[in-house]
Amino acid sequence: MSSQDTLEARLQREARFHDTKYSGGDSYPAHYSVGPTQYVYTHMRDALGDLRGKHVLEVGCGEGWITRELAQRGAIVSAFDISPQAAENTRKVLAADNLLKRCSIGVMPAEKLEYPDNSFDIAIGFAIIHHLELGSALAELHRVLKPGGVGYFAEPLATNPLIAAYRRLTPQYRTPDERPLVLRELPQLLAAFSAYEHREFYLTALLAIALTYVPGGARLFPSLSNGLHRFDRMLLRAVPALGAWAWYTIIKVTK
Ligand SMILES: C[S@@+](CC[C@H](N)C(=O)[O-])C[C@H]1O[C@@H](n2cnc3c(N)ncnc32)[C@H](O)[C@@H]1O
Repeated sequence: MSSQDTLEARLQREARFHDTKYSGGDSYPAHYSVGPTQYVYTHMRDALGDLRGKHVLEVGCGEGWITRELAQRGAIVSAFDISPQAAENTRKVLAADNLLKRCSIGVMPAEKLEYPDNSFDIAIGFAIIHHLELGSALAELHRVLKPGGVGYFAEPLATNPLIAAYRRLTPQYRTPDERPLVLRELPQLLAAFSAYEHREFYLTALLAIALTYVPGGARLFPSLSNGLHRFDRMLLRAVPALGAWAWYTIIKVTK
């Protein structure tokens, strides 16, 4: 099988899995009821700054919850996903808030984008990079960003053995091809960009998430989680190498 056939098959698996999920055919893990990733999303969102009039690309838009927010903040948004159902759901979300006129929603692979070179001031993606064939997708991202353009991506990491064990026990929530990132691989992966930086989230804060599986634990989540995030921040500042064991990273790339 040629590498092109392999990529094609992979894209079809991703599209099928997410079409089913976004048609209501799949559930999320129980701990998603407390919005465990909201904390890292908030940090990425706040880093974007003033979006009015900016051309923003959203990679892997899923069901459009970030797309809507980008448009509400005044961005001119191009969002895409490999799943036709994702694009359809995103269009519905935008139409409900009369935001479709500021957005174009596409169905395409991140590995072969339909946008011209140097199109975007900002790119953003949540939990998407680890679904992609990174060589082609990062080259495409670099191509479509304007010189000096920036990309922000919040991504799960691979290295924590407890998280890895949880993933092995719950394969139904993941596609066969997704592969969480490894921080030490970033220098090679992001070599084409003029600069990149990253910051990790969720070390001890994972405890608050685990507690949601204990009766009454979900009620404690907000206060416990906030305290542990503060502790993690101190810990990661003191010992940055612990970041490899975190659940999420936010990567900022600059073209
Ligand atoms: C974990 S979901 C995240 C979706 C959305 N960003 C969110 O936070 O809800 C990953 C998304 O990536 C999309 N995806 C997977 N492989 C893709 C590819 N090669 N190109 C574009 N989108 C892809 C999936 O269809 C899915 O919507």
